[in-house]
Amino acid sequence: MKDNFGRTIRYLRLSVTDLCNYRCIYCMDKEGVAKKRHNDILSIEELTDIAKAAYSLGIRKIRLTGGEPLVRRGIVTLCRNIRAISDDIELGITTNGSLLPELADELKIAGVDRLNISLDTLDKATFRSITRVGELDDTLNGIKAAKKAGFTDIKINTVLLGGINDGEIFDFIKLTEDEPLHVRFIELMPLGVVKGWDKIRMISVSPIEEYLRQIAESITSDGVARVYHLPGHKGTVGLISPMSKGFCASCDKIRVTADGKLKPCLHSQTEINLKGLHGDELISALADGISQKPARHLLDTVGAQTDRNMNEIGG
Ligand code: GTP
Ligand code: 5AD
Ligand code: SF4
Repeated sequence: MKDNFGRTIRYLRLSVTDLCNYRCIYCMDKEGVAKKRHNDILSIEELTDIAKAAYSLGIRKIRLTGGEPLVRRGIVTLCRNIRAISDDIELGITTNGSLLPELADELKIAGVDRLNISLDTLDKATFRSITRVGELDDTLNGIKAAKKAGFTDIKINTVLLGGINDGEIFDFIKLTEDEPLHVRFIELMPLGVVKGWDKIRMISVSPIEEYLRQIAESITSDGVARVYHLPGHKGTVGLISPMSKGFCASCDKIRVTADGKLKPCLHSQTEINLKGLHGDELISALADGISQKPARHLLDTVGAQTDRNMNEIGG
């Protein structure tokens, strides 16, 4: 289905929980998240119904997000259900990786195609201070488990945090030399808890891009990332620049939050309720959401219009 700006919408980001076993400083408050009542979040059946309705409107890519999607009970069943809708759906998960040692095999068998794993630092102490409670080794073991389970084209999401991890950029680039990993540097978006942050934390990918452009063997694009392949490297380095460049003109996605609200844009306040809807009603609510997609975000002028933290949207 096309939106009012002629963009074909084919990508659904479905948040399955706003809970997480980490407490990343840019994602939520240090107190964490109050657990919602069971009835307030979408059930596995409702999530499956939304995926089916979205498929009927032309969605062909579904990414499960959170919070941390792997803490959601029933996640493997949900993946199996989505795979059963059609083989023609690209099914991905964005995760902090810590639960992959237990779940990677089951997710692969359930029909998940690809995993994107968030990893902002390779230093144990910095990892603890970014995630507040996490252990670097758990996420590194998760990456290993994903490879062992047969996942390929694993993407590593690294959000740039000025003064915290910007000294590690070369270490992350180096990671792509011997490993077939696709590291992506992401510009921090000022929404939720990040709204009041010092400008020092917000850094642009542009200097990294200038460097990569000089040495890259090829440059391609993949979704929201510009992807650089360096000579002799098994993996690639990608740049995601929602702030310095933006990619709204080619936006192809909608989002659904764990409590069942369709968000036409990551940053907008508009939310369309899907919970409790079935059949044609559900399909028309989704179509309504697509028709309400804004042309672009206004982060650089009015700022984020949503009051939600990232764990309540799913990135
Ligand atoms: P694939 O292309 O399927 O590999 O995944 P992806 O890059 O779409 O998803 P992922 O969850 O790995 O997100 C990577 C980063 O891009 C996160 O920081 C997201 O918040 C950000 N992002 C993804 N889509 C959008 C978008 O439509 N708008 C904005 N502003 N940021 C986005
Ligand atoms: N800006 C940019 N990326 C963010 N993520 C979470 N919060 C932000 C933010 N404010 C990333 C996570 C994860 C993905 C879903 O979004 O690190 O990789
Ligand atoms: Fe799409 Fe909104 Fe992201 Fe722009 S900011 S690319 S419109 S989700």
